[in-house]
Amino acid sequence: MVTMISPIATVICMLVFPWLAYFAYYLVSRVVLWRTPADRKKPALPPGSMGWPYIGETFQLYSKNPNTFFALKQQRYGPIFKTHILGCPCVMVSSPEAARFVLVTSAHLFKPTFPASKERMLGRQAIFFQQGDYHARLRRLVLRAFMPHAIRDTVADIEAVAARTLRSWDGRMINTFQEMKTYAFNVALLSIFGKDEIGYIEELKKCYYTLEKGYNSMPINLPGTLFNKAMKARKQLDVIVAKILSSRRKRQAKFNDLLGSFMEAKEALTDEQIADNIIGVIFAARDTTASVLTWIVKYLGENPSILQTVTEEQEGIMRSKEMEGDKWLSWDDTKMMPMTTRVIQETMRVASILSFTFREAVEDVSFEGYLIPKGWKVLPLFRNIHHSPDNFPEPEKFDPSRFESSPKPNTFMPFGNGTHSCPGNELAKLEMLVLLHHLTTRYRWSLSGSEAGIQFGPFALPLNGLPITFSLKT
Ligand code: HEM
Repeated sequence: MVTMISPIATVICMLVFPWLAYFAYYLVSRVVLWRTPADRKKPALPPGSMGWPYIGETFQLYSKNPNTFFALKQQRYGPIFKTHILGCPCVMVSSPEAARFVLVTSAHLFKPTFPASKERMLGRQAIFFQQGDYHARLRRLVLRAFMPHAIRDTVADIEAVAARTLRSWDGRMINTFQEMKTYAFNVALLSIFGKDEIGYIEELKKCYYTLEKGYNSMPINLPGTLFNKAMKARKQLDVIVAKILSSRRKRQAKFNDLLGSFMEAKEALTDEQIADNIIGVIFAARDTTASVLTWIVKYLGENPSILQTVTEEQEGIMRSKEMEGDKWLSWDDTKMMPMTTRVIQETMRVASILSFTFREAVEDVSFEGYLIPKGWKVLPLFRNIHHSPDNFPEPEKFDPSRFESSPKPNTFMPFGNGTHSCPGNELAKLEMLVLLHHLTTRYRWSLSGSEAGIQFGPFALPLNGLPITFSLKT
Protein backbone atom coordinates (compact mmCIF):
# COMPACT_ATOMS: atom_id res chain seq x y z
CA MET A 1 0.00 0.00 0.00
CA VAL A 2 1.34 3.42 -0.92
CA THR A 3 0.90 6.08 1.79
CA MET A 4 0.10 9.56 0.44
CA ILE A 5 1.34 12.62 2.40
CA SER A 6 -1.10 15.48 2.27
CA PRO A 7 0.12 18.89 0.94
CA ILE A 8 -0.51 20.49 4.37
CA ALA A 9 1.73 17.89 6.05
CA THR A 10 4.43 18.56 3.45
CA VAL A 11 4.36 22.31 4.18
CA ILE A 12 4.54 21.66 7.94
CA CYS A 13 7.53 19.34 7.40
CA MET A 14 9.29 21.93 5.28
CA LEU A 15 8.81 24.61 7.94
CA VAL A 16 9.48 22.51 11.02
CA PHE A 17 12.42 20.29 9.95
CA PRO A 18 14.92 23.10 9.35
CA TRP A 19 14.15 24.47 12.83
CA LEU A 20 14.50 21.00 14.36
CA ALA A 21 17.80 20.54 12.53
CA TYR A 22 19.05 23.95 13.69
CA PHE A 23 17.99 23.22 17.27
CA ALA A 24 19.84 19.87 17.17
CA TYR A 25 22.94 21.60 15.79
CA TYR A 26 22.70 24.25 18.54
CA LEU A 27 22.51 21.56 21.25
CA VAL A 28 25.47 19.67 19.83
CA SER A 29 27.57 22.79 19.55
CA ARG A 30 26.76 23.77 23.16
CA VAL A 31 27.30 20.28 24.61
CA VAL A 32 29.99 18.68 22.41
CA LEU A 33 31.88 21.71 21.21
CA TRP A 34 31.34 23.55 24.50
CA ARG A 35 33.09 26.92 24.53
CA THR A 36 33.30 28.76 27.83
CA PRO A 37 33.24 32.59 27.84
CA ALA A 38 37.05 32.42 28.31
CA ASP A 39 37.28 30.22 25.19
CA ARG A 40 35.25 32.71 23.24
CA LYS A 41 37.84 35.40 24.07
CA LYS A 42 40.61 33.23 22.62
CA PRO A 43 42.00 34.21 19.23
CA ALA A 44 40.78 32.31 16.19
CA LEU A 45 42.50 29.28 14.71
CA PRO A 46 44.69 30.01 11.68
CA PRO A 47 43.00 29.71 8.26
CA GLY A 48 43.12 26.36 6.46
CA SER A 49 41.13 23.16 6.09
CA MET A 50 41.04 20.07 8.29
CA GLY A 51 39.89 17.57 5.64
CA TRP A 52 37.97 14.43 6.56
CA PRO A 53 37.41 13.26 10.15
CA TYR A 54 40.53 11.47 11.45
CA ILE A 55 42.32 11.04 8.09
CA GLY A 56 42.27 14.81 7.60
CA GLU A 57 44.37 15.77 4.57
CA THR A 58 46.85 12.90 4.79
CA PHE A 59 45.95 11.62 1.29
CA GLN A 60 46.35 15.06 -0.25
CA LEU A 61 49.79 15.30 1.39
CA TYR A 62 51.01 11.92 0.15
CA SER A 63 49.22 11.73 -3.19
CA LYS A 64 51.53 14.41 -4.54
CA ASN A 65 55.00 15.60 -3.71
CA PRO A 66 54.63 16.87 -0.08
CA ASN A 67 56.48 20.05 -1.07
CA THR A 68 53.73 20.82 -3.60
CA PHE A 69 51.13 20.33 -0.86
CA PHE A 70 52.93 22.81 1.43
CA ALA A 71 53.48 25.34 -1.36
CA LEU A 72 49.81 25.22 -2.49
CA LYS A 73 48.57 25.62 1.06
CA GLN A 74 50.84 28.60 1.64
CA GLN A 75 49.66 30.20 -1.61
CA ARG A 76 46.06 29.78 -0.54
CA TYR A 77 46.17 30.61 3.16
CA GLY A 78 49.39 32.57 3.77
CA PRO A 79 52.39 31.82 6.00
CA ILE A 80 50.44 30.26 8.89
CA PHE A 81 47.72 27.71 8.24
CA LYS A 82 46.03 24.75 9.88
CA THR A 83 45.58 21.25 8.51
CA HIS A 84 45.16 17.69 9.80
CA ILE A 85 47.59 14.95 8.86
CA LEU A 86 48.39 11.44 10.14
CA GLY A 87 45.67 11.72 12.76
CA CYS A 88 46.97 15.00 14.21
CA PRO A 89 45.70 18.58 13.97
CA CYS A 90 48.63 20.74 12.86
CA VAL A 91 49.62 24.35 12.36
CA MET A 92 52.21 24.87 9.66
CA VAL A 93 54.34 28.00 9.62
CA SER A 94 56.41 29.24 6.72
CA SER A 95 57.64 32.73 7.58
CA PRO A 96 61.14 33.25 9.05
CA GLU A 97 59.57 35.12 12.00
CA ALA A 98 57.14 32.31 12.81
CA ALA A 99 59.85 29.63 12.54
CA ARG A 100 62.05 31.66 14.89
CA PHE A 101 59.15 32.06 17.33
CA VAL A 102 58.60 28.28 17.45
CA LEU A 103 62.25 27.14 17.43
CA VAL A 104 64.06 29.92 19.28
CA THR A 105 62.26 32.68 21.16
CA SER A 106 59.34 30.60 22.46
CA ALA A 107 60.99 27.16 22.17
CA HIS A 108 59.88 26.34 25.75
CA LEU A 109 56.24 26.39 24.55
CA PHE A 110 56.89 23.73 21.87
CA LYS A 111 58.29 20.30 22.68
CA PRO A 112 59.87 17.92 20.17
CA THR A 113 57.47 15.16 19.16
CA PHE A 114 57.94 11.85 17.34
CA PRO A 115 55.70 8.81 16.88
CA ALA A 116 56.04 6.48 19.91
CA SER A 117 57.31 3.61 17.70
CA LYS A 118 60.23 5.76 16.47
CA GLU A 119 61.12 6.76 20.04
CA ARG A 120 61.14 3.11 21.09
CA MET A 121 63.34 2.17 18.18
CA LEU A 122 65.95 4.89 18.51
CA GLY A 123 65.88 4.91 22.31
CA ARG A 124 63.62 6.97 24.54
CA GLN A 125 66.51 8.79 26.21
CA ALA A 126 68.03 10.08 22.96
CA ILE A 127 68.66 13.81 22.67
CA PHE A 128 65.97 14.59 20.05
CA PHE A 129 63.08 13.72 22.37
CA GLN A 130 64.26 15.75 25.36
CA GLN A 131 63.69 19.19 26.83
CA GLY A 132 65.05 21.06 29.86
CA ASP A 133 68.08 20.12 31.97
CA TYR A 134 68.67 16.61 30.61
CA HIS A 135 68.55 17.94 27.05
CA ALA A 136 70.98 20.78 27.88
CA ARG A 137 73.37 18.27 29.51
CA LEU A 138 73.32 15.97 26.49
CA ARG A 139 73.79 18.87 24.12
CA ARG A 140 76.90 20.08 25.95
CA LEU A 141 78.39 16.59 25.73
CA VAL A 142 77.58 16.21 22.02
CA LEU A 143 78.88 19.69 21.17
CA ARG A 144 82.09 19.01 23.14
CA ALA A 145 82.84 16.20 20.66
CA PHE A 146 81.74 18.01 17.47
CA MET A 147 82.90 21.62 17.96
CA PRO A 148 85.63 22.81 15.54
CA HIS A 149 88.42 22.49 18.13
CA ALA A 150 87.41 18.86 18.78
CA ILE A 151 87.21 17.75 15.15
CA ARG A 152 90.07 19.75 13.61
CA ASP A 153 92.56 16.96 14.32
CA THR A 154 90.39 14.35 12.63
CA VAL A 155 90.67 15.82 9.11
CA ALA A 156 93.35 13.34 7.98
CA ASP A 157 91.34 10.37 9.24
CA ILE A 158 88.20 11.60 7.48
CA GLU A 159 90.25 12.16 4.35
CA ALA A 160 91.49 8.57 4.47
CA VAL A 161 87.85 7.38 4.63
CA ALA A 162 86.90 9.68 1.71
CA ALA A 163 89.82 8.54 -0.49
CA ARG A 164 89.10 4.86 0.25
CA THR A 165 85.39 5.30 -0.49
CA LEU A 166 85.96 7.01 -3.85
CA ARG A 167 88.60 4.45 -4.91
CA SER A 168 86.03 1.70 -4.38
CA TRP A 169 83.68 3.35 -6.94
CA ASP A 170 86.24 3.54 -9.73
CA GLY A 171 85.02 2.06 -13.02
CA ARG A 172 81.57 1.25 -11.67
CA MET A 173 77.98 2.33 -12.06
CA ILE A 174 76.95 3.24 -8.53
CA ASN A 175 73.86 4.24 -6.60
CA THR A 176 75.18 7.55 -5.28
CA PHE A 177 72.93 7.71 -2.22
CA GLN A 178 73.74 4.16 -1.07
CA GLU A 179 77.47 4.80 -1.43
CA MET A 180 77.28 8.18 0.31
CA LYS A 181 75.46 6.46 3.18
CA THR A 182 78.40 4.12 3.60
CA TYR A 183 80.77 7.11 3.64
CA ALA A 184 78.66 9.10 6.14
CA PHE A 185 78.28 5.98 8.33
CA ASN A 186 82.05 5.42 8.44
CA VAL A 187 82.74 9.06 9.30
CA ALA A 188 80.05 9.01 12.00
CA LEU A 189 81.54 5.83 13.52
CA LEU A 190 84.99 7.40 13.46
CA SER A 191 83.77 10.49 15.30
CA ILE A 192 81.82 8.42 17.84
CA PHE A 193 84.25 5.57 18.56
CA GLY A 194 87.59 6.82 17.20
CA LYS A 195 89.77 4.33 15.34
CA ASP A 196 90.14 1.82 18.15
CA GLU A 197 86.91 -0.14 18.25
CA ILE A 198 87.37 -1.94 14.94
CA GLY A 199 86.62 -5.29 16.59
CA TYR A 200 83.00 -4.34 17.24
CA ILE A 201 82.25 -2.17 14.23
CA GLU A 202 81.21 -4.86 11.72
CA GLU A 203 78.75 -6.39 14.18
CA LEU A 204 77.41 -2.93 15.00
CA LYS A 205 76.93 -2.09 11.32
CA LYS A 206 75.05 -5.35 10.71
CA CYS A 207 72.60 -4.65 13.53
CA TYR A 208 72.20 -1.03 12.47
CA TYR A 209 71.23 -2.09 8.91
CA THR A 210 68.49 -4.34 10.34
CA LEU A 211 67.30 -1.48 12.55
CA GLU A 212 67.19 0.85 9.57
CA LYS A 213 65.13 -1.57 7.47
CA GLY A 214 62.45 -1.68 10.13
CA TYR A 215 62.48 2.02 10.94
CA ASN A 216 59.90 3.04 8.38
CA SER A 217 57.90 -0.22 8.48
CA MET A 218 54.46 -0.63 10.07
CA PRO A 219 55.01 -0.75 13.85
CA ILE A 220 53.67 -4.31 14.25
CA ASN A 221 55.77 -6.17 16.79
CA LEU A 222 55.01 -9.76 15.73
CA PRO A 223 57.64 -12.44 14.99
CA GLY A 224 58.99 -12.10 11.45
CA THR A 225 57.93 -8.49 10.80
CA LEU A 226 60.59 -5.94 9.84
CA PHE A 227 59.61 -3.95 12.92
CA ASN A 228 60.15 -6.95 15.19
CA LYS A 229 63.56 -7.68 13.63
CA ALA A 230 64.50 -4.03 14.04
CA MET A 231 63.53 -4.05 17.72
CA LYS A 232 65.66 -7.16 18.28
CA ALA A 233 68.58 -5.50 16.44
CA ARG A 234 68.09 -2.44 18.66
CA LYS A 235 68.52 -4.60 21.78
CA GLN A 236 71.61 -6.17 20.24
CA LEU A 237 73.04 -2.68 19.66
CA ASP A 238 72.70 -2.01 23.40
CA VAL A 239 74.76 -5.14 24.05
CA ILE A 240 77.48 -4.06 21.60
CA VAL A 241 77.72 -0.55 23.10
CA ALA A 242 77.89 -2.13 26.59
CA LYS A 243 80.82 -4.32 25.44
CA ILE A 244 82.67 -1.28 24.07
CA LEU A 245 82.02 0.64 27.30
CA SER A 246 83.33 -2.20 29.40
CA SER A 247 86.47 -2.59 27.28
CA ARG A 248 87.15 1.17 27.52
CA ARG A 249 86.63 1.22 31.27
CA LYS A 250 89.27 -1.50 31.64
CA ARG A 251 91.75 0.52 29.58
CA GLN A 252 91.19 3.68 31.65
CA ALA A 253 92.48 5.89 28.79
CA LYS A 254 91.21 9.30 27.68
CA PHE A 255 89.26 9.40 24.40
CA ASN A 256 88.47 12.53 22.38
CA ASP A 257 85.47 11.08 20.56
CA LEU A 258 81.76 11.26 21.34
CA LEU A 259 81.78 8.10 23.42
CA GLY A 260 84.68 9.56 25.43
CA SER A 261 82.65 12.73 25.98
CA PHE A 262 79.63 10.74 27.21
CA MET A 263 81.79 8.59 29.50
CA GLU A 264 83.43 11.62 31.09
CA ALA A 265 80.18 13.42 31.85
CA LYS A 266 80.42 15.11 35.26
CA GLU A 267 76.93 13.93 36.11
CA ALA A 268 77.37 10.35 34.92
CA LEU A 269 75.05 9.02 32.22
CA THR A 270 73.72 5.47 32.55
CA ASP A 271 74.85 2.89 29.98
CA GLU A 272 71.33 2.93 28.57
CA GLN A 273 71.41 6.71 28.13
CA ILE A 274 74.78 6.43 26.39
CA ALA A 275 73.52 3.70 24.02
CA ASP A 276 70.33 5.63 23.15
CA ASN A 277 72.39 8.68 22.25
CA ILE A 278 75.06 6.81 20.29
CA ILE A 279 72.36 5.18 18.12
CA GLY A 280 70.55 8.52 17.91
CA VAL A 281 73.63 10.35 16.65
CA ILE A 282 74.35 7.67 14.01
CA PHE A 283 70.75 8.05 12.87
CA ALA A 284 71.01 11.87 12.73
CA ALA A 285 74.37 11.87 10.97
CA ARG A 286 73.99 9.32 8.22
CA ASP A 287 71.09 9.80 5.81
CA THR A 288 71.14 13.59 6.21
CA THR A 289 74.76 14.01 5.11
CA ALA A 290 74.42 11.31 2.44
CA SER A 291 71.33 13.02 0.94
CA VAL A 292 73.07 16.41 0.72
CA LEU A 293 76.15 14.82 -0.90
CA THR A 294 73.93 13.03 -3.42
CA TRP A 295 72.28 16.33 -4.41
CA ILE A 296 75.70 17.97 -4.73
CA VAL A 297 76.82 15.28 -7.20
CA LYS A 298 73.63 15.85 -9.17
CA TYR A 299 73.84 19.66 -9.24
CA LEU A 300 77.54 19.66 -10.13
CA GLY A 301 76.85 17.09 -12.87
CA GLU A 302 74.13 19.33 -14.30
CA ASN A 303 76.15 22.58 -14.06
CA PRO A 304 79.53 22.04 -15.80
CA SER A 305 80.70 25.63 -15.35
CA ILE A 306 80.13 25.48 -11.57
CA LEU A 307 81.88 22.10 -11.46
CA GLN A 308 84.79 23.64 -13.31
CA THR A 309 85.10 26.50 -10.78
CA VAL A 310 84.98 24.09 -7.83
CA THR A 311 87.55 21.83 -9.50
CA GLU A 312 89.91 24.77 -10.07
CA GLU A 313 89.59 25.81 -6.43
CA GLN A 314 90.37 22.28 -5.24
CA GLU A 315 93.23 21.80 -7.73
CA GLY A 316 94.75 25.03 -6.40
CA ILE A 317 94.72 23.57 -2.88
CA MET A 318 96.14 20.28 -4.15
CA ARG A 319 99.02 22.07 -5.91
CA SER A 320 99.89 24.17 -2.87
CA LYS A 321 99.94 21.01 -0.72
CA GLU A 322 102.23 19.28 -3.20
CA MET A 323 104.59 22.26 -3.15
CA GLU A 324 104.70 22.22 0.64
CA GLY A 325 105.24 18.44 0.60
CA ASP A 326 102.04 17.90 2.64
CA LYS A 327 100.16 14.69 2.06
CA TRP A 328 96.96 15.36 3.94
CA LEU A 329 94.43 18.16 4.06
CA SER A 330 94.41 20.25 7.22
CA TRP A 331 91.57 22.03 8.99
CA ASP A 332 92.92 25.34 7.69
CA ASP A 333 92.80 24.03 4.09
CA THR A 334 89.10 23.35 4.50
CA LYS A 335 88.60 27.00 5.46
CA MET A 336 90.09 28.09 2.10
CA MET A 337 87.32 26.58 -0.03
CA PRO A 338 84.81 29.45 -0.48
CA MET A 339 83.39 28.28 -3.82
CA THR A 340 82.95 24.69 -2.64
CA THR A 341 81.37 25.97 0.57
CA ARG A 342 78.86 28.02 -1.43
CA VAL A 343 77.98 24.95 -3.51
CA ILE A 344 77.22 23.07 -0.28
CA GLN A 345 75.10 25.97 1.04
CA GLU A 346 73.17 26.36 -2.20
CA THR A 347 72.57 22.60 -2.37
CA MET A 348 71.21 22.60 1.16
CA ARG A 349 68.91 25.49 0.25
CA VAL A 350 67.57 24.14 -3.05
CA ALA A 351 67.27 20.52 -1.94
CA SER A 352 66.12 21.37 1.63
CA ILE A 353 66.40 17.70 2.53
CA LEU A 354 64.52 18.28 5.78
CA SER A 355 61.48 20.05 4.37
CA PHE A 356 60.19 20.69 7.90
CA THR A 357 60.48 19.66 11.52
CA PHE A 358 57.86 18.77 14.15
CA ARG A 359 57.03 20.32 17.50
CA GLU A 360 53.96 20.12 19.77
CA ALA A 361 52.41 23.07 21.65
CA VAL A 362 52.67 22.37 25.41
CA GLU A 363 49.97 24.97 26.17
CA ASP A 364 47.61 27.22 24.20
CA VAL A 365 49.87 29.67 22.39
CA SER A 366 48.83 32.80 20.59
CA PHE A 367 50.89 34.01 17.67
CA GLU A 368 50.15 36.96 15.38
CA GLY A 369 46.50 36.97 16.43
CA TYR A 370 46.02 33.22 15.91
CA LEU A 371 45.55 30.42 18.42
CA ILE A 372 47.81 27.37 18.36
CA PRO A 373 45.92 25.03 20.70
CA LYS A 374 47.72 22.89 23.30
CA GLY A 375 48.55 19.44 21.90
CA TRP A 376 48.53 20.52 18.26
CA LYS A 377 51.59 19.75 16.15
CA VAL A 378 53.49 22.73 14.82
CA LEU A 379 55.61 22.36 11.69
CA PRO A 380 58.12 25.06 10.72
CA LEU A 381 58.43 24.57 6.93
CA PHE A 382 62.14 25.05 6.20
CA ARG A 383 61.73 24.38 2.50
CA ASN A 384 59.06 27.04 1.99
CA ILE A 385 61.35 29.59 3.68
CA HIS A 386 64.31 28.50 1.51
CA HIS A 387 62.15 28.70 -1.63
CA SER A 388 60.48 32.03 -0.99
CA PRO A 389 61.37 34.63 -3.65
CA ASP A 390 61.28 37.24 -0.86
CA ASN A 391 64.27 35.54 0.73
CA PHE A 392 66.02 34.09 -2.35
CA PRO A 393 65.25 35.65 -5.77
CA GLU A 394 64.63 33.03 -8.51
CA PRO A 395 64.48 30.39 -5.78
CA GLU A 396 64.37 27.34 -8.11
CA LYS A 397 67.65 28.31 -9.77
CA PHE A 398 70.83 26.58 -8.53
CA ASP A 399 73.12 29.57 -8.06
CA PRO A 400 75.87 29.26 -5.43
CA SER A 401 76.94 32.88 -6.03
CA ARG A 402 73.88 34.06 -4.08
CA PHE A 403 75.81 33.05 -0.93
CA GLU A 404 78.57 35.56 -1.71
CA SER A 405 76.55 37.77 0.62
CA SER A 406 74.89 36.48 3.78
CA PRO A 407 71.21 35.57 3.57
CA LYS A 408 68.69 37.67 5.55
CA PRO A 409 68.49 36.63 9.24
CA ASN A 410 66.50 33.44 9.89
CA THR A 411 65.94 32.66 6.21
CA PHE A 412 68.56 29.92 5.86
CA MET A 413 68.16 27.03 8.29
CA PRO A 414 69.49 23.81 6.78
CA PHE A 415 70.66 22.79 10.27
CA GLY A 416 67.54 24.05 12.06
CA ASN A 417 67.56 26.84 14.62
CA GLY A 418 67.52 27.26 18.39
CA THR A 419 67.78 24.73 21.19
CA HIS A 420 67.56 21.64 18.97
CA SER A 421 69.60 22.91 16.02
CA CYS A 422 72.14 20.48 14.61
CA PRO A 423 75.17 19.98 16.87
CA GLY A 424 76.86 17.95 14.09
CA ASN A 425 76.84 20.76 11.52
CA GLU A 426 80.61 21.41 11.65
CA LEU A 427 81.38 17.74 11.17
CA ALA A 428 78.85 17.49 8.33
CA LYS A 429 80.41 20.47 6.51
CA LEU A 430 83.91 19.12 7.06
CA GLU A 431 83.19 15.65 5.70
CA MET A 432 81.44 17.11 2.65
CA LEU A 433 84.37 19.47 1.86
CA VAL A 434 86.92 16.67 2.25
CA LEU A 435 85.00 14.32 -0.03
CA LEU A 436 84.47 17.06 -2.63
CA HIS A 437 88.22 17.78 -2.67
CA HIS A 438 88.99 14.23 -3.82
CA LEU A 439 85.88 13.87 -5.96
CA THR A 440 86.56 16.93 -8.12
CA THR A 441 90.35 16.67 -8.37
CA ARG A 442 90.61 12.97 -9.22
CA TYR A 443 87.34 11.67 -10.61
CA ARG A 444 84.72 12.25 -13.28
CA TRP A 445 81.13 11.01 -13.35
CA SER A 446 78.14 11.08 -15.64
CA LEU A 447 74.47 11.06 -14.71
CA SER A 448 72.48 8.16 -16.13
CA GLY A 449 69.52 10.35 -17.13
CA SER A 450 67.00 8.47 -14.95
CA GLU A 451 67.45 10.82 -12.02
CA ALA A 452 64.90 13.52 -12.89
CA GLY A 453 62.34 13.63 -10.10
CA ILE A 454 62.41 13.39 -6.39
CA GLN A 455 61.70 10.73 -3.78
CA PHE A 456 61.32 10.90 -0.01
CA GLY A 457 62.88 8.36 2.25
CA PRO A 458 62.10 10.33 4.47
CA PHE A 459 64.65 12.92 3.32
CA ALA A 460 64.29 14.44 -0.15
CA LEU A 461 66.46 12.54 -2.65
CA PRO A 462 67.01 12.42 -6.42
CA LEU A 463 64.95 9.60 -7.87
CA ASN A 464 66.46 6.09 -7.55
CA GLY A 465 69.28 7.41 -5.36
CA LEU A 466 71.02 8.97 -8.40
CA PRO A 467 72.70 6.21 -10.41
CA ILE A 468 75.97 7.46 -11.94
CA THR A 469 78.93 6.01 -13.83
CA PHE A 470 82.14 6.87 -12.11
CA SER A 471 85.83 6.69 -13.03
CA LEU A 472 89.29 8.11 -12.40
CA LYS A 473 90.23 11.12 -14.54
CA THR A 474 92.76 10.10 -17.15
C1 HEM B 1 74.17 17.81 6.07
C2 HEM B 1 73.92 17.05 7.10
C3 HEM B 1 72.96 17.37 8.20
C4 HEM B 1 71.80 18.11 8.18
C5 HEM B 1 71.18 18.80 6.97
C6 HEM B 1 71.27 18.11 9.53
C7 HEM B 1 70.12 18.78 9.90
C8 HEM B 1 69.63 18.82 11.20
C9 HEM B 1 68.49 19.59 11.62
C10 HEM B 1 67.62 20.48 10.71
C11 HEM B 1 68.32 19.38 12.95
C12 HEM B 1 67.26 20.02 13.85
C13 HEM B 1 65.97 19.25 13.83
C14 HEM B 1 64.91 19.91 14.66
O1 HEM B 1 65.01 21.07 15.06
O2 HEM B 1 63.92 19.22 14.90
C15 HEM B 1 69.34 18.45 13.38
C16 HEM B 1 69.47 17.97 14.66
C17 HEM B 1 70.45 17.09 15.04
N1 HEM B 1 71.54 16.66 14.29
FE1 HEM B 1 71.90 17.12 12.34
N2 HEM B 1 72.09 17.37 10.33
C18 HEM B 1 73.14 16.92 9.57
C19 HEM B 1 74.22 16.17 10.00
C20 HEM B 1 74.43 15.76 11.30
C21 HEM B 1 75.61 15.08 11.77
C22 HEM B 1 76.82 14.72 10.92
C23 HEM B 1 75.40 14.81 13.10
C24 HEM B 1 76.28 14.13 14.10
C25 HEM B 1 77.49 13.75 13.91
C26 HEM B 1 74.10 15.35 13.46
C27 HEM B 1 73.53 15.26 14.71
C28 HEM B 1 72.32 15.86 15.06
C29 HEM B 1 71.72 15.72 16.39
C30 HEM B 1 72.26 14.89 17.56
C31 HEM B 1 70.55 16.49 16.37
C32 HEM B 1 69.54 16.68 17.52
C33 HEM B 1 69.90 17.90 18.33
C34 HEM B 1 68.94 18.18 19.48
O3 HEM B 1 67.83 17.65 19.51
O4 HEM B 1 69.34 18.96 20.36
N3 HEM B 1 73.54 15.92 12.35
N4 HEM B 1 70.14 18.14 12.30
